Amino acid sequence: MDNYNVIVIGAGPAGYVAAIRCAQLGKKTAIIDSNSSLGGTCLNVGCIPSKALLESSELYHQAQHDLAQHGINVTDVSLDLPVVLQRKQKIVSELTSGIALLLKSNSITSYHGSASLLSKTKVKVSLADNNTIEITADHIILAPGSKPSALKSAIVDNDTIVDSTGALTFSQVPQSIAIIGAGVIGLELGSVWHRYGSKVVIYEFLDSLLPSADTDIAKLAGRLFKKQGLSFHFSSEVIRTDVKNNNVELSYKDSTGEHTETFDKILVATGRVPNTEKLASFKELNLDSKGFIEVDAQCKTNIDNIYAIGDAVRGPMLAHKGSEEGIMVAELIAGNFGKVNYDIIPFVIYTNPEIAWCGQTEQQLKQKNTDYNIGVFRFIANGRAKALAKTDGLIKIIADKKTDRILGVHMIGPQVSELIMQAVIAMEFKASSEDLALTLFAHPGLSEVLHEAALDVAGNAIHKVNS
Ligand code: NAI
Repeated sequence: MDNYNVIVIGAGPAGYVAAIRCAQLGKKTAIIDSNSSLGGTCLNVGCIPSKALLESSELYHQAQHDLAQHGINVTDVSLDLPVVLQRKQKIVSELTSGIALLLKSNSITSYHGSASLLSKTKVKVSLADNNTIEITADHIILAPGSKPSALKSAIVDNDTIVDSTGALTFSQVPQSIAIIGAGVIGLELGSVWHRYGSKVVIYEFLDSLLPSADTDIAKLAGRLFKKQGLSFHFSSEVIRTDVKNNNVELSYKDSTGEHTETFDKILVATGRVPNTEKLASFKELNLDSKGFIEVDAQCKTNIDNIYAIGDAVRGPMLAHKGSEEGIMVAELIAGNFGKVNYDIIPFVIYTNPEIAWCGQTEQQLKQKNTDYNIGVFRFIANGRAKALAKTDGLIKIIADKKTDRILGVHMIGPQVSELIMQAVIAMEFKASSEDLALTLFAHPGLSEVLHEAALDVAGNAIHKVNS
């Protein structure tokens, strides 16, 4: 029986990063994944393929609608969807085979199979070639990830009713798509197919968009998405779906009663659940009522040599949060210091305009009775944004009233998926809004919106008309 210092179960962004760091720290490491293509949901059917489609669809939309203002007249713009899908798949293949190479170059043993816990140090692997082996380790890291949650009223058939994986591979642009859930996946994949010409209608249980975002950002996002042509039904519960020959009837209930509409496709995007059924058979491991593995702030489970990280434990289901947890537990296993700062996790939604934030929202601070100042600056008054013809959006900084320390930064606008990292770094270094205000920013640049927002906290924004 092979024996390792560390066995990692799951080769997504949490698991493979943990394995690499363990190997870097001198640990004999094995990793197990049931998918031959490494990288988990993120690389195979999540973050990466969806960003590839978002980019392709945005360029298609720009060619049709935005180039004329730059003096570029394009006629006969047409879509070659197979090429779009091939490009997406090529990116996925390159990145997933890159993970295999990284594991190999770090001398990590990779098993292709399904893992379950036999004891606190022993793992059974049902290999893809139908053989079963047992391996042991001093430490085990569980990183099994998550899967789309099922909805009784819309059972995924991977044809007419799909989840986020199915919505990445439509072979034709559907004329109409109903999306159940106005969360991150609903908005991102809804944007993709809307740009390709589908009529997109989003049904959301709650009464508004993006409840965890700052209210000002969520409201502006809602207005902009509606202007783009996405339709929303809030406070709506989907109660039934009936697949007919070539389409599907969706029935929903709202305050005015029951309604039925017909679509080509339905995308179910109502959240994700932890992938822990296999691990749950090891009864000594504590799971909560929703199937998440119970861990402390350092991702230790109730079993002292077993850690759990990523989507299968508490906290936001974000690849970068899982990766940081992977590094933390590798350091802890090696006897080093390890910590994740859960207070400053960047959130990014890759719509157009993009949405990003870190730290606390205004509504959270109100609930805690924290006194704060706010600085806001809009992209419309920024020279670079004008040159790019991307002027929708704003940046809002919230700083503590007494200390001026930055408590939260909220963005909607061009390239805020990148700009947010300036705020994350500032907050990690415990910056005040004055620190950012006194920093010299290059002109012309989108980052100047962050600078002006910081100046605005003290009422000193330069390019802001006094109201
Ligand atoms: P989500 O939790 O972001 O949104 C699900 C939405 O569905 C919620 O607004 C919820 O109120 C609504 N909902 C739930 N049940 C419903 C029902 N029966 N009828 C109507 N609406 C209902 O989940 P989503 O979008 O599926 O994403 C899953 C996870 O993947 C999230 O944790 C997200 O953070 C992560 N993700 C992150 C991305 C990013 O960081 N850019 C991209 C894609 C996914």
